[in-house]
Amino acid sequence: MPELAADLRGTINHKLDAQKPSGIRAFDAEVSKIPGIIKLTIGEPDMDTPEHVKQAAIKSIQNNDSHYAPQAGKPELLKAISKYLKDTRGVDYNPENEIISTVGATEALVAALFSLLNTGDKVVIPTPIFSLYFPLVAMTGATAVQVDTSADDFILTPEHLERVLQREGKGVKVVLLNYPTNPTGREYPKETLQGLAQVITKHHLYAIADEIYSDLVYGVKHYSIASMIPERTLFISGLSKSHAMTGYRLGYVAGPAEIIASIHKMHAYLVTAVTDNVQAAGAEALSNGRKDPLAFRKIYEQRRDMIVAGLKKLGFKLATPEGAFYVFAKIPDQFGKDDVKFALQLAKEAKVGVTPGSAFGAGGEGYIRLSYAASDENIQECLKRIGAFMKKLG
Ligand SMILES: Cc1ncc(COP(=O)(O)O)c(C=O)c1O
Repeated sequence: MPELAADLRGTINHKLDAQKPSGIRAFDAEVSKIPGIIKLTIGEPDMDTPEHVKQAAIKSIQNNDSHYAPQAGKPELLKAISKYLKDTRGVDYNPENEIISTVGATEALVAALFSLLNTGDKVVIPTPIFSLYFPLVAMTGATAVQVDTSADDFILTPEHLERVLQREGKGVKVVLLNYPTNPTGREYPKETLQGLAQVITKHHLYAIADEIYSDLVYGVKHYSIASMIPERTLFISGLSKSHAMTGYRLGYVAGPAEIIASIHKMHAYLVTAVTDNVQAAGAEALSNGRKDPLAFRKIYEQRRDMIVAGLKKLGFKLATPEGAFYVFAKIPDQFGKDDVKFALQLAKEAKVGVTPGSAFGAGGEGYIRLSYAASDENIQECLKRIGAFMKKLG
């Protein structure tokens, strides 16, 4: 086994070296070792990919669809994305030069951030939020300006954004939004998005909107900021959550042609193109599987109601999530504010795995995230275990 030469130690990319591994995955790995634990930690659908989507992937392999695809994506996939976004989000993107299919929404985020940002730029990020954004922004040489939204029920208001921009002065280039939000499940109302769009325009900024959970909303309508300011928005999404396709790794980014041309370059440098049969599956999902997320949505909504009611009964305070499959619950005061300690103790003593809120940035301290992409039985059992643990503790 080769050991790195002593004279090369400490010489790798310092920006990368400075990044800590994902807090969520590190915590998950630690609690996974506990025998008998039930985990509500990782954000991944527990459903199977719809059969017709699987068949499309199989057919593609059988048809020897095994050559380099066009870098931006196969025409049938790009057309399917374009039509889907027009029909469901009210935004018109030209499949020929305004959309790139990517390896998950993750690659779309990497390519978008690296295409837009220069060293010294600032990115406003409302927190708590999906923690991947922080190392990615740092890797570009830009700085993340974390904006704690906990005082506003985890929604970035236009007034708050205006105050932050006044305070930061010049240098802010991007506002990075994710709604429905991981980890809070909050959805942004239309009026809030309109207000944010106005502030973003006034300050000559870009918006990046990660809307990967937007097919999983409960009792509310999802609005996209891209329909309000398409000329300055990069729309990012994917099929991981909507069609239970996390392992396929399919996402996309859409926006004005000029920026998409730069993202195209970055995407080509990173991966060349998305895997052929994955593209075939994606085209099928978005063309003939529009109703697939509705079946998932029904199941998630019932689970959400179950877990929200259960946690409230146990004394947790939480804003009812309107989307995604997470609840973000405030640890009752008598158990202190140390969410990492609470989550570790819960894992060891009650054998329930949850994610400490502080993993999601400023404003997450004192909270835990529970993913209800888990069976009814596991959710009920976890609620029982959490109840017994709290009784014993407090
Ligand atoms: C907000 C958000 N964006 C992007 C991703 C990554 O999506 P993908 O699996 O398509 O890379 C996740 C995954 O958990 C997420 O929560």
